[in-house]
Amino acid sequence: MRMTVIGTGYVGVVHAATLADLGHEVLGADIDEERISALAAGIPPVYEPGLRELLQRTVASGRLRFTTDMARAARFAPVHFVCVGTPQLPGSKSADLRSVEAVVDALAPHLAPGDLIVGKSTVPVGTAARLAERLRRTAPGAGIAWNPEFLREGFAVRDSASPERIVVGVASGHDEAVLREVYAPMLRDGVPFFRTDPNTAELVKVASNSFLATKISFINAMAEVCDAAGADVLTLAEAVGADPRIGPRFLQPGLGFGGSCFPKDIRGFMARAEELGVGSAVAFLQEVDDINTRQRTRTVELARGLVGGAFDGTNVAVLGAAFKPDSDDVRDSPALAVSRAIRHEGARVRVHDPEALDNARGLAPELQYTLDVPKACEEADLVLHLTPWPEYQAIDPALLAAQVRRPTVVDARHALDAAMWRRAGWSLHAPGRPQPE
Ligand code: UGA
Repeated sequence: MRMTVIGTGYVGVVHAATLADLGHEVLGADIDEERISALAAGIPPVYEPGLRELLQRTVASGRLRFTTDMARAARFAPVHFVCVGTPQLPGSKSADLRSVEAVVDALAPHLAPGDLIVGKSTVPVGTAARLAERLRRTAPGAGIAWNPEFLREGFAVRDSASPERIVVGVASGHDEAVLREVYAPMLRDGVPFFRTDPNTAELVKVASNSFLATKISFINAMAEVCDAAGADVLTLAEAVGADPRIGPRFLQPGLGFGGSCFPKDIRGFMARAEELGVGSAVAFLQEVDDINTRQRTRTVELARGLVGGAFDGTNVAVLGAAFKPDSDDVRDSPALAVSRAIRHEGARVRVHDPEALDNARGLAPELQYTLDVPKACEEADLVLHLTPWPEYQAIDPALLAAQVRRPTVVDARHALDAAMWRRAGWSLHAPGRPQPE
């Protein structure tokens, strides 16, 4: 089958390459010329395990091509996946839908009856219905469906090739049949397929992300109680998660969630529910958001206490800048938020990250950066472990102790071997866990 993928950011590039790998003939389109020429040469716009290989394989096969010509894209195929961003509108909780609308408007004049636009971007419920209304005027006979994307950064290639479910919100049997054909190889492998209306499909996505964000904030709230009560949140999470009705995943306490999805999605959901007159049904998400940002302030407070009450004149080493490991994404990164707050209070902050430094530099030029862990820790009064890259678990704490001024570390992600670090002479602090006697 022929199809296009409009928008070659995170979701778009992975989706386009996955579709080409399934055997389809795919044209990826974007307005960013630099990005399109890089993609045509097999260079992905983001760091993601396995993506470069997948991209190069599918580009070399001739099944994946790229263009900046939207009219060409519109005429290339009868199916168009829309994968553009829907960030939070500045100064508002709502999602900014201008890119989605611009793509639909650019495609519309070239569409033929029976052509299908398929939204993958995360949007407020009711968006597809509104766009369908618009298409009735600008492209009569063309359809619109919603097919939310559930991939996780760091696992995007794997999640995209073997999704846990495929959800399609369609207005007709014809549109369902088109999407069943697109995903036929996955359906043959037994991936569950949910056919629903577009409103429900849009909601499945925000409901899923809201539930996961709530689970994370729940366990972080428990960490706060554990700190006050002298209990251990890690054992608590393990024992609570052993109940299969709850499950252990997304129950890892720490610095909370960041990235381009959870924070903006729960805020967008609250704003949309308000518009629908059911704001109180999801008002708890404000608490989820507040608990989440509080983990950042709690980490800053803990760090301030450990350097003697004020950051002025201190050196703080930070391990990790990305919002999570295996990603170079620093959007709403808890690690960078903590680093900036501490810098703002007068510390000299030196940040290490194996992949995210270029992006971090752009966002937080006031911090110092290095690709060398010992260098980041040179003369440090405090080390903060904020993004749990696996390589930090392989650090030899005895060797690192020789670099620092004071061997004090905060393991905000509960990923370091606390006993080993303490044996090597470190004073290790982990929120939600009691300090040894
Ligand atoms: C999330 C969802 O997991 C995907 O299913 C969804 O498709 C995606 O958003 C999206 O809407 O596009 P992602 O933001 O890539 O994916 O990352 P996650 O692995 O979900 O992690 C989100 C944040 O939660 C990270 O900052 C992570 O460190 C944090 N987290 C995760 C915890 O603090 N504790 C946990 O137990 C799990």
